[in-house]
Amino acid sequence: MKGQHGLRDVSERGSFSGKIGFIMATAGSAVGLGNIWRFPTMAASHGGGAFLLAYIIIVVVFGLAMVCTEIALGRMTRKSPIDAYGTLRPRAKIIGVLSTLVPALIYPYYCVVGGWIIGYLGYYLAGSDCIGIFGDFSGSYLAVLTTIVFISIVGIIVYLGVDRGIEKLSTIFMPVFLILLVILVVYVLFQPGSMGGMEYFLLPDLSHVDASVFTSALGQAFFSLSLAMGITITYGSYMKKQDSIQRSSMTVIVIDSAIAILAGLLIVPIAYNAFGESMPSGAGLVFVALPEIFTGMPGGTLVAIFFFIMLFIAAVTSAVSILEAVVSTIIDRFHATRHRAVLFVTLPTLVVGTLISLGFGPLDWINIAGKGLLDLFDFASNTVLMPVVALLMCIFIGHVIGPKVITDEIESSGGFSLKRIYPILIKWVFPVFLAIILVTGVLGI
Ligand code: PFF
Repeated sequence: MKGQHGLRDVSERGSFSGKIGFIMATAGSAVGLGNIWRFPTMAASHGGGAFLLAYIIIVVVFGLAMVCTEIALGRMTRKSPIDAYGTLRPRAKIIGVLSTLVPALIYPYYCVVGGWIIGYLGYYLAGSDCIGIFGDFSGSYLAVLTTIVFISIVGIIVYLGVDRGIEKLSTIFMPVFLILLVILVVYVLFQPGSMGGMEYFLLPDLSHVDASVFTSALGQAFFSLSLAMGITITYGSYMKKQDSIQRSSMTVIVIDSAIAILAGLLIVPIAYNAFGESMPSGAGLVFVALPEIFTGMPGGTLVAIFFFIMLFIAAVTSAVSILEAVVSTIIDRFHATRHRAVLFVTLPTLVVGTLISLGFGPLDWINIAGKGLLDLFDFASNTVLMPVVALLMCIFIGHVIGPKVITDEIESSGGFSLKRIYPILIKWVFPVFLAIILVTGVLGI
């Protein structure tokens, strides 16, 4: 059925059953490893409270404008990224292609990390303390197996569809995630010596504040809100016409930021006690440093199990959104069934995921400019492509179709408080910042 503007009506596509489903799934995508292993250390090392303030301002202005923009693009066209852009201007399809490439590159290595999480959960449940096992485990065939298990779980959920799979998963898992996180934070707060880390995380230290605070905060906001990856466009295409875009976006942003801050309250105090100001981040934090700290805590095994369940939820809901962005594109482009599209992405992912996993063992000789396979995928997707896509998107909206197309869609179902400054932001302010992020990221400054 053709709807307004000759665009397809929502009834032909899957759709979220309502506002809550949409919000939970979008928040599930946003809340991921970035909130837990990236944000806390980044905030702590960039001036604590000062970074938090910068981050909140950035998220409320940039984040809100960008999330609303992507949802509007998806909802007005009812298409996945390539066709969403293509419907507006045929030549703009290339932006959709590039933005689908971002999740396609992220997906295999995200699954490898997901596999590690499953492995650690298994080890803890089997009674291991997981100290010093990372090197051997990540290079083993067992890690390949857990990667395959993770890919299969995500594949099954996406295969089940938008309302039966993705929405159900998120509406059950996200509250569980939050409860576990709060329990862990409260526990850590009552540990002796947690105040030092807490102060380091929350009190502003202006001596650490420089221009990089803003660019790092912006880069983090993009990654954390799953922007410029086609994901929010895809989820927006499943949103009901009558739901307020601004209100849903704001809720997702508040959930994502609150969880990042809560994760900081959990991670920073324990890591600060052990490492002082040079605390690790990423895989080194989660798979190497934290297990050592957990072991020294009373009830440490239980804390570790809670922690890795939480991490699993964060990883799986984000991975589902990544796969959905690619799958929905294939369904739209090639009129494939969901079943076929999931298989079509999952099979190569199994191969690439296996290779990346083996990059920590038998294939660890593959190394370009000091980067192993996983880091190469991460660099290509997050440091290079993501800012390029975001930049192209802003230029396209600001200078080709005009900001009004987006603000009209947002206002068709509610208010848009950034309306007055939106044109300036999308035409000039965002592109300048994104260009800086791109250049400094690529040059490694
Ligand atoms: N936004 C998620 C996080 O903060 O970890 C992760 C993520 C989701 C990254 C989706 C990439 C992606 F395509």
